[in-house]
Amino acid sequence: MTEEEYLCFVQPYEDALKNILVRVDVLNQDYRRKYQNYPIHHIQHRLKQKESIEKKLQINGYEISTDSSRDYLTDIAGIRIICYFVRDIYAVVSLLKKQNDIVIIKESDYIREPKANGYRSYHIVFGVPVYHTDGMEYYPVEIQLRTMSMDLWASMEHRICYKGKKECEAEDAFKDYASDLKAMEEEMEEFL
Ligand code: GTP
Ligand code: MG
Repeated sequence: MTEEEYLCFVQPYEDALKNILVRVDVLNQDYRRKYQNYPIHHIQHRLKQKESIEKKLQINGYEISTDSSRDYLTDIAGIRIICYFVRDIYAVVSLLKKQNDIVIIKESDYIREPKANGYRSYHIVFGVPVYHTDGMEYYPVEIQLRTMSMDLWASMEHRICYKGKKECEAEDAFKDYASDLKAMEEEMEEFL
């Protein structure tokens, strides 16, 4: 994939990302205007770099091309919404699902069913309509919703264990951290 091919390929994903970011910002502003217990702490976003796209295709045994990126990758455009509590995540997801011009491509609830290592988050990939001169096409945007404690866990685990793929010596410790953080968050929620 040349630099030019990459830039041309990701443009519509960036357009879709901007579109979803506006929707999330509008919800966030409206929540903050109307409610004391607003659900969103902060929002991050990123477009997957050329090197990370190539690495992911290679790891999964796909040809390294824009065609296979389009066919196999749904996280080229990504947003992370960091909330306060679990209930906030479900509230935000439910409002996004009501926007009926975007479609759900994939949904994984790692809060109800955490991964074996303790990872918790809610992942949803929306198909976002992008209108260009030659018509409309849906592009995927992956939204990860987490509480601050899930984000702390995932950021640390990513740094210490995740992409290394080999055995992680902190694995057992991270399982304990996951349940400790969950208990702490639930206890805080009771003070609401
Ligand atoms: P990836 O190939 O890693 O993107 O996973 P996937 O396509 O099978 O989807 P999945 O829903 O499992 O994970 C998507 C994204 O969630 C990852 O790119 C990470 O950002 C995050 N994630 C998933 N599992 C873990 C985990 O065990 N630890 C951390 N730190 N992040 C994770
Ligand atoms: Mg990913």
